[in-house]
Amino acid sequence: MKYLSSYFTFATTIVLLFSFDPSSADSHEKFVQCLYNYPYVTNSISSVVYTQTNSLYSSVLDVSIQNLRFFNATSKPVVIVTPLDVSHIQATIICSQRHGLQIRIRSGGHDYEGLSYVAEVPFVVVDLINLRGIEVDVENSTVWVQAGATVGELYYRISQRSNTLAFPAGICPTVGVGGHLSGGGYGFLMRKYGLSADNVIDALIVDVNGNLLDKETMGEDLFWAIRGGGGASFGVIVAWKIRLVSVPSTVTVFQVARTLEENATGIIHKWQRVANNLNKNLTIRINFWRLNSSKNGNLTVQAQFESLYLGPADDLIPLVQKRLPELGLLREECIEMSWIESILFMAGFTNGESTDVLLNRTQLNGLSFFKAKSDYVRDPIPDVGLEGLWPFFYEDEAEHGYVQFTPYGGRMDEISESETPIPHRSGYIFHIQYGVNWQEKGDAAEQRHLNWIRRMYNYTEPYVSKSPRSAYLNYRDLDIGINNNGYTSFSQASIWGTKYFGNNFNRLARVKTRVDPRNFFRNEQSIPSLVGLFTRMVQIYGEFTKLGNASVPNNHNTSS
Ligand SMILES: Cc1cc2nc3c(=O)[nH]c(=O)nc-3n(C[C@H](O)[C@H](O)[C@H](O)COP(=O)(O)OP(=O)(O)OC[C@H]3O[C@@H](n4cnc5c(N)ncnc54)[C@H](O)[C@@H]3O)c2cc1C
Ligand SMILES: *[C@@H]1O[C@H](CO)[C@@H](O)[C@H](O)[C@H]1NC(C)=O
Ligand SMILES: *[C@@H]1O[C@H](CO)[C@@H](O)[C@H](O)[C@H]1NC(C)=O
Ligand SMILES: *[C@@H]1O[C@H](CO)[C@@H](O)[C@H](O)[C@H]1NC(C)=O
Ligand SMILES: *[C@@H]1O[C@H](CO)[C@@H](O)[C@H](O)[C@H]1NC(C)=O
Ligand SMILES: *[C@@H]1O[C@H](CO)[C@@H](O)[C@H](O)[C@H]1NC(C)=O
Ligand SMILES: *[C@@H]1O[C@H](CO)[C@@H](O)[C@H](O)[C@H]1NC(C)=O
Ligand SMILES: *[C@@H]1O[C@H](CO)[C@@H](O)[C@H](O)[C@H]1NC(C)=O
Ligand SMILES: *[C@@H]1O[C@H](CO)[C@@H](O)[C@H](O)[C@H]1NC(C)=O
Ligand SMILES: *[C@@H]1O[C@H](CO)[C@@H](O)[C@H](O)[C@H]1NC(C)=O
Repeated sequence: MKYLSSYFTFATTIVLLFSFDPSSADSHEKFVQCLYNYPYVTNSISSVVYTQTNSLYSSVLDVSIQNLRFFNATSKPVVIVTPLDVSHIQATIICSQRHGLQIRIRSGGHDYEGLSYVAEVPFVVVDLINLRGIEVDVENSTVWVQAGATVGELYYRISQRSNTLAFPAGICPTVGVGGHLSGGGYGFLMRKYGLSADNVIDALIVDVNGNLLDKETMGEDLFWAIRGGGGASFGVIVAWKIRLVSVPSTVTVFQVARTLEENATGIIHKWQRVANNLNKNLTIRINFWRLNSSKNGNLTVQAQFESLYLGPADDLIPLVQKRLPELGLLREECIEMSWIESILFMAGFTNGESTDVLLNRTQLNGLSFFKAKSDYVRDPIPDVGLEGLWPFFYEDEAEHGYVQFTPYGGRMDEISESETPIPHRSGYIFHIQYGVNWQEKGDAAEQRHLNWIRRMYNYTEPYVSKSPRSAYLNYRDLDIGINNNGYTSFSQASIWGTKYFGNNFNRLARVKTRVDPRNFFRNEQSIPSLVGLFTRMVQIYGEFTKLGNASVPNNHNTSS
């Protein structure tokens, strides 16, 4: 077995550890050779390996890039692999380690900071776009969904089988389940059923040794970690088994906009005091952006109240009139439809499109450059705080700026902080997302927009969660702290880690240490291994010299 006979000296190990040579053309050739020689692949791998000289390289890389900021990144992968089966993932993991390449794992490519396809070290992208099988088991209300599927594809497949089964996940249909479910996942069913991650009941993951593990074999701690702690620190998630939830055959939606002149501040004042205590069947989130006031041509802020109610309009109206009368909701503003139609509606398909649009992996409004940040709120923001926020919307950079308030409460209050890695549960009124999109190319435009959102974020500091100021992993934000390019101490990683995970960060680091002590699966915000630098050097030396006897990966196939 020629493939297994690499021999590493201690010196080589040190070189591997400290100096990934960015120009090592031959290391990626050796990597590709290693893939081709990998003894356990079931399908031929050569048709899914794209080096930079392959004519399809750019289209394969670009197709899932969702943020134009990272479109022309200078640090592109030396190779892209789009696995057709588990053995291709195993080969990629084993061969990248062998040839000193990092890997980045991509499912839907929505990572806000492009971490699934940009890196500063020589790296390989494992893109799961070919692994998107979805098996719906209506009888048991479960689904096996492969990581490369989008939530839109998942919603579509569920709706093909039932109009009273659903899954609580995100609003944008193009989001990939690989990243989304491993980082939380919220949408209009969160108040009733929690996060996507709360509804995962099994998973298949390929670990650093190339072993394919399920819930039983990965152990309780790893299964806990990947349901909110992000998959990328632990291995390549191949598929999830999820529990479907029930929804009535008729739901009701509305989108009602109020400007500042129409008492938006007053309505938000009241909303903050009721939104998290409403009936679990009712979610009303708020989306703010700026608008040219029709009255006087001045700029104003518009707050759009967007709602899903799990029931008929006749039940919804009295509920809103009782709890949020200031909104002045009218019967004609409410639309009854099926749950799957509400998915289209909230995603912006309001022209009677067929549900087939959920299978389209291109975002409805095309791509922009964007940056977003997040916060959690425990106490209502006083009116003076809101009034100080509005002027940010009148700045030039805010033309496509937005702020979203998503209510908590309901099911979120019933889940303990430690049940999953995501600790933001009871006691929060709502979650904030700040975002800004732009179309103008170049660094200057980028700096202006980044500066705008960062100043807005600074402004809201007194009104949001503190010690630490929390953030949502799926709204990845490298401003809150990053790892070194290489060894990162636990305390350095804690800066960003406790913002996403609170006290759960410690447990995530322990899991990481058990499953990937050498920290192969790493990025700017990956969970650190607690194995110290010196110990790690010795250990890596040991592991590399043992590679000659590497065990055969457990090679059973995914069931979906
Ligand atoms: C337009 C848009 C709308 C969004 N709407 C919502 C929303 O409504 N609700 C919400 O909660 N979030 C939303 N998000 C955020 C979204 O949940 C995250 O960006 C999510 O991580 C995307 O998953 P992905 O697979 O598409 O992204 P990717 O960029 O492919 O991956 C994101 C991260 O997960 C890792 N990862 C991906 N696949 C795997 C895998 N198979 N195994 C291990 N690690 C993996 C990546 O390496 C990366 O670190 C939205 C994002 C965008 C851009
Ligand atoms: C990427 O680079 C190409 C070629 O230079 C250019 O035409 C294109 O506009 C760039 N795209 C973005 C999003 O910057
Ligand atoms: C439902 O689950 C049971 C137990 O796991 C299984 O035997 C059965 O085949 C499942 N039903 C379907 C339709 O797959
Ligand atoms: C604005 O909303 C507040 C509720 O916060 C309410 O008390 C007030 O009467 C409303 N003002 C108008 C003009 O509707
Ligand atoms: C939510 O709606 C369902 C019917 O779809 C109903 O059975 C349930 O009682 C409602 N929940 C609450 C809290 O009103
Ligand atoms: C607002 O008005 C300005 C100038 O009249 C115009 O350029 C801009 O497109 C308008 N914006 C919106 C959202 O209508
Ligand atoms: C428009 O805004 C300016 C500055 O805020 C204000 O002075 C002016 O009165 C406003 N115009 C109208 C018609 O409201
Ligand atoms: C997918 O959606 C994009 C954006 O809305 C659209 O341009 C494209 O035509 C759609 N593709 C298909 C196959 O419908
Ligand atoms: C935000 O606040 C931080 C810390 O107070 C400061 O370093 C930074 O410059 C501020 N950013 C902007 C854009 O104002
Ligand atoms: C592999 O194992 C055999 C016997 O167990 C041993 O003799 C040999 O030295 C090992 N090879 C390496 C490279 O560690």
